[in-house]
Amino acid sequence: MGTMISVESVAKTYDSGLVALNDVSLQIEEGEILALLGPNGAGKTTLISIICGITNLSAGRVTVGGHDVVHDYRAARRMIGLVPQEIALEPFERVWNTVRLSRGLFGLPSDDAYLQDVLQKLSLWDKRGAQVLELSGGMKRRVLIAKALSHAPRVLFLDEPTAGVDVELRKDMWEIVRELKAQGVTIILTTHYIEEAEAIADRVGVINRGEILLVEETQALMRRMGQKEMVIELQAPVDAIPEALGKYNLALGDDPCRLVYSYVTQAGRRPGITALLSDISAAGLVLRDVQTRQSSLEDIFVDLVREPAA
Ligand SMILES: Nc1ncnc2c1ncn2[C@@H]1O[C@H](COP(=O)(O)OP(=O)(O)OP(=O)(O)O)[C@@H](O)[C@H]1O
Ligand SMILES: [Mg+2]
Repeated sequence: MGTMISVESVAKTYDSGLVALNDVSLQIEEGEILALLGPNGAGKTTLISIICGITNLSAGRVTVGGHDVVHDYRAARRMIGLVPQEIALEPFERVWNTVRLSRGLFGLPSDDAYLQDVLQKLSLWDKRGAQVLELSGGMKRRVLIAKALSHAPRVLFLDEPTAGVDVELRKDMWEIVRELKAQGVTIILTTHYIEEAEAIADRVGVINRGEILLVEETQALMRRMGQKEMVIELQAPVDAIPEALGKYNLALGDDPCRLVYSYVTQAGRRPGITALLSDISAAGLVLRDVQTRQSSLEDIFVDLVREPAA
């Protein structure tokens, strides 16, 4: 395993003058699943298009499998399958022809057994004779994936593969992605569903306003930034945090019968909770109930890309 994709100091300014990417650097390892998260307009599709050699970069350098995407475009592009964000398919073409033609475009000899396998895995084999216009939206998404896989790429980009897709199909897609990973395919996906990143990505990259804010292992990120909250319900209301409890990170809840304790989990330990609970009763407060809540990747993400207060 080594670096499969290397993005070095890439910038992109569109002809309109809009700066879509600014000094983006990113290394993607062979066989990993990286999820790119970012709000609308962050630059995700632009970055993917640059790596795929579809959009020109304004500065910097990108290689895929060691091939420079500008100077060695064909070799780099051959390694890549791209599932675009927009559904762009020939409506009157039949599914089978669509994927065969796609493979042909890469100058590869036909391999119907391979394509049959791809269509079967995507539950499209029964639809092989259908015209694209006869398919549902979710099926069209699968055809896009089949097309992208038609030349057995080593790298697969999925630009919002599950937008507008039902829960069932979303889970199917995750399964397909995991299988591809097991075959050593490197996968980069963008998504607005944070739980999708949480479920399948080895690493998460957060991009906002054309800049990479962080790239980190999904689990490590959740451990590092994962705040927990414990809501302590009391028998009687309080109007202030008792002084004896001042050393804890406590806040009054919306309800005067509630205290909220925020803490960071460390390797599953709940720092100081036993002490806090006994100090609460020592301060004369009577507990009614406690509940804990863990921040999700979603909370972390929202915090990261939150607009700075004006
Ligand atoms: N062809 C283009 N010409 C000019 N500006 C563009 C072009 N394509 C994208 N942009 C602009 O570049 C910025 C980044 O767009 P991009 O499509 O990369 O965002 P994104 O992160 O993929 O967003 P989304 O989540 O909505 O798909 C946006 O401000 C967009 O308006
Ligand atoms: Mg996009």
